[in-house]
Amino acid sequence: MLLNFTPIGDGRGDLIVLEAMKNIPFEIKRVYYLTNLNSKYPRGFHAHKKLEQVLICLQGTCRIVLDDGVECREFKLTSANQGLLLDKFFWREMHDFSDDCILMVLASDYYNESDYIRDYVGFKEVLENA
Ligand code: TYD
Repeated sequence: MLLNFTPIGDGRGDLIVLEAMKNIPFEIKRVYYLTNLNSKYPRGFHAHKKLEQVLICLQGTCRIVLDDGVECREFKLTSANQGLLLDKFFWREMHDFSDDCILMVLASDYYNESDYIRDYVGFKEVLENA
């Protein structure tokens, strides 16, 4: 679930390369990022029917909760050298953003509200009927 990116480092700094179907396991159709976050306001609270995503904390830190309907796992994102791969049908919550947090998301498809499951009970029902 955690992807490790190897920075190309030299005396000038680090360069991190993300390539579709290489170190990112899908074709990237959309990139968005969250800035000016506030730890008082967690985000996410949804799952996706088809979409795959990779979350990369470019700056600062945050905590991600992933729930597959059976168990919850927590990941603290603290490095731009790591990405969290989110498959479809994972309920996700984003918490504890540091003041400087910049969270970038790579997505396998365009924005489509009908791909979202935004209600937790509905999420559990979909899993139970799968
Ligand atoms: P939302 O899903 O609530 O964000 P998060 O999962 O980070 O809590 O999205 C916030 C708003 O932005 C909502 O009105 C949908 C819109 N949106 C787009 O228009 N395009 C996008 O690619 C995304 C991710 C969201």
